[in-house]
Parts: sequence; C-alpha cells; structure tokens
Amino acid sequence: MSSQRVSLKPWNTFGIDVYANNVIIVHSVESLFCNSWTNGVRQSEPVLLLGEGSNVLFLQDFRGKVLINRIKGISVTETTHTWLLHVGAGENWHQLVETTLCKGLAGLENLALIPGCVGSAPIQNIGAYGVELRQVCEYVDIILLNDGSHQRLKATECCFGYRDSVFKHRDKNHYAIIAVGLRLIKQWRPVLSHGALKMLNPKTVTPIQVFHTVCETRRSKIPNPKYIGNAGSFFKNPLVRASIAFNLLALHPKIPYHLNNNGDVVLSAAGLIDQCKLKGYRIGGAAVHDQQALVFINTGTASSEDIVNLARIVRRRVGEKFNIWLEPEVCFISSQGKIDALEVVR
Ligand code: FAD
Ligand code: EPU
Repeated sequence: MSSQRVSLKPWNTFGIDVYANNVIIVHSVESLFCNSWTNGVRQSEPVLLLGEGSNVLFLQDFRGKVLINRIKGISVTETTHTWLLHVGAGENWHQLVETTLCKGLAGLENLALIPGCVGSAPIQNIGAYGVELRQVCEYVDIILLNDGSHQRLKATECCFGYRDSVFKHRDKNHYAIIAVGLRLIKQWRPVLSHGALKMLNPKTVTPIQVFHTVCETRRSKIPNPKYIGNAGSFFKNPLVRASIAFNLLALHPKIPYHLNNNGDVVLSAAGLIDQCKLKGYRIGGAAVHDQQALVFINTGTASSEDIVNLARIVRRRVGEKFNIWLEPEVCFISSQGKIDALEVVR
C-alpha cells in the first residue's frame, strides 16, 4: 500500500500531526530491501523505518518516505529444556506475549502491554517489572541495506544495557532488524521482584496471574495511547554514583531509588519530577501526566514544539533542584531522520 503526502498522526503514539512524503507498509524482507529502502537510499531521499511509532517524537514534517514494518511470522522449535521462537520483526510485541502464554510458553509475561513491534524491542532492550528483553533474547537478524546481505547477531553481540543496545549506535540507514530469536526456559521461574508482583505467592503463582497483574498495574498508571497520546517514559531513569546519590538522598529521602548490579544507584526520574511538583504541569497541548510524572501526554492539541518545551522545562527544573540532568528515552525525528534528542532538550 502506498500514498502521497501522508499524515503521520496514526503512525506515532504521541499523535503528532506531521506529514511524510510517503508511507509504505512492508510485509516482506524483499519488499523492504528491493522496492522501498534501496530506492530511497539511491535517490538520497530520507527513509525512516517504523514499527508502531511508540517511542518516537516527530519534530517536523518528515521529508522522505516512512516504511512501516509488518514482516510477520512466528515459528517455534524446542530442545529438552527450552522453547526457541523465531519472530518476524513486524509482529506486535504484546500479541506475541499473549500468544506464547496461550500456548503454555511462559517467560514474557512481565513484558506484557509494552506497545510496539518485536523488531523494535532489541533497540532499547525493552524492560518492565524486573525483566528486560536481553534475558530472553537469543539473536537478532538484520539486513544490511547497502548490499542486502543478512547477519545474525548473537545476544552477546547486541551489547544490551539499560534502555540501550548496539542498534542505538549503528547508522540507521545501513541496517534493518528483520527477525528476533527468543529462548524461553521450560522450567518457569516467576520474577516477582517489582511493585504489585511482590504480593503474589511464588509457590502457587501462574504465568497468567503475573500477566494479569502486570496488565492491571500498567493500566492503572500509564495512559493508553489509543485515547491519550504519549510515548511511555519520556526520560530514562538516571544512573548515579553511590557517593553522589546517597548525599542527595540524605537531603531528599522521598526520592525512590534502587541499586543496580555494579552498586550504582538508579534514581526514579518520575520521583524527581514529582518532587518538583510538576505532575499536571502543562505547556500548550502538552502536559506531565498526573498519575505518572515520567509520562508526557498530548492533551489533544499538542505540537512537537509543546512537547519539546515541556521536556526542556522539566529537565531544567529537575537539574536546578537536584543537579541531576535527565536524558530522553524517546527518539527524536527531524525532517531528515533521527537526531540527538539530548541536544534538542538541553
Ligand atoms: P518505533 O517507535 O516505531 O521505533 C523506535 C525506533 O526504532 C525508531 O528510531 C525507528 O526508526 C527504529 N526502528 C523501528 N523498527 C526498526 C527495525 N525493524 N529496524 C531498525 N530500526 C527500527 N518501553 C519499555 O522498554 N518498557 C516499557 O514498559 C514501555 N512502556 C511503554 C508504554 C507506552 C504507553 C508507550 C507508548 C511506550 C512504552 N515503551 C516502553 C516504549 C516503546 O513501547 C518501546 O520502545 C518499543 O519497543 C517501541 O516499538 P515501536 O515498534 O513502536 O518502535
Ligand atoms: N513514582 C513517583 N511519582 C510518579 C510515578 C512514580 O514517585 O509520578 C515512583 C513510584 O512510586 C516508584 C518509582 O517512582 O517508587 C518507580 O515508578 P514505576 O514503577 O512506575 O517505574 P518507572 O521507573 O517510572 C520504569 C520504566 C517503565 C516501566 C516501569 C515498570 C524507565 C525509563 N521506565 O518506569 O518503562 O514500564 O519502570 O517496570 O525505565 C518506558 O520505557 O517507556 C516505560 C514505561
């Protein structure tokens, strides 16, 4: 399917009304490579590959073509102890979580209700409720767009970190993720370390109960982008050296935090914003969500400028109060493609 001068409003969960020259839905690796991307690259027209647009902020009209990845397919094989899933990059992540659980394959339940496509999940190593993609990722298949060759990156080659991976640092014009391999351990062990999951009994709990608890918790705090435009957490949770963090926490004991594996402190960005009394703070059509301070919403009429201005003010207020300078999690897209979001909100 293709059309001319298309609104990107239905293609980004912030619901920003900007335009692209063209939107093309791609259903196969061949059409991604042959018909769409290479044409764009050869004609030096900017090309942007999107899944469901749930982690992007368009700053202006995109002066090129947008490819919507709908490369589908799920196949399952097994070994004695594991299930191995090979999943097309254009599959919907939450549907995959539901499908696997319905088939009795547990392991993805903590990652329920995260919007977006399977192929986007490795890019920022999606995570929630004590689990990150890296814990289940076996490999990521990519196509190199200069010559159409395929590569399989083992999980160790993906350099997964908190909201980070090798894919965040590769030139977007040179590769596309086409499939992801996941490994689920048959002997299921629940991860109940986070929030409401702590209330569940580890001896009797089922994967479906974890799934429902995660879905309920998420629905109670994060607005559904179908009704209220947003892109989830706008900033990352800041990682701070223990010596600095504990001085800060002595002065502001209400800021939620946890320790990471290296003994550094992860401060809650939502808590920092909340302490600045910014819940509900509004600029034009953009606002800080009143249930979850890390989520910025489009109240209906927000322009990307409103959202950027809100982000600048929130970042400055938090920085001036705590000397902690937040970094955006959301990808910013200019008229030509992805740009450094931190430079924009500084
Ligand atoms: P898009 O927004 O379409 O793309 C993101 C970036 O990846 C863009 O730069 C795009 O060009 C690039 N890209 C997309 N597909 C490909 C591909 N196949 N190959 C190469 N590059 C590609 N994230 C979490 O980690 N945890 C959460 O709990 C969470 N909760 C959220 C809740 C809400 C309500 C929302 C709106 C977002 C949330 N997110 C969360 C963020 C988001 O869901 C994830 O980042 C998701 O993986 C983005 O998927 P997408 O398909 O929408 O990516
Ligand atoms: N909190 C506040 N004020 C608020 C919201 C939360 O003080 O307005 C406190 C909570 O009470 C809690 C702490 O902050 O003690 C953390 O809150 P929450 O559990 O909601 O998680 P978060 O750190 O804000 C992260 C991820 C989410 C993920 C959740 C659940 C980041 C940037 N965000 O949010 O991911 O769903 O944990 O695991 O790491 C996303 O990436 O888009 C996203 C939504």
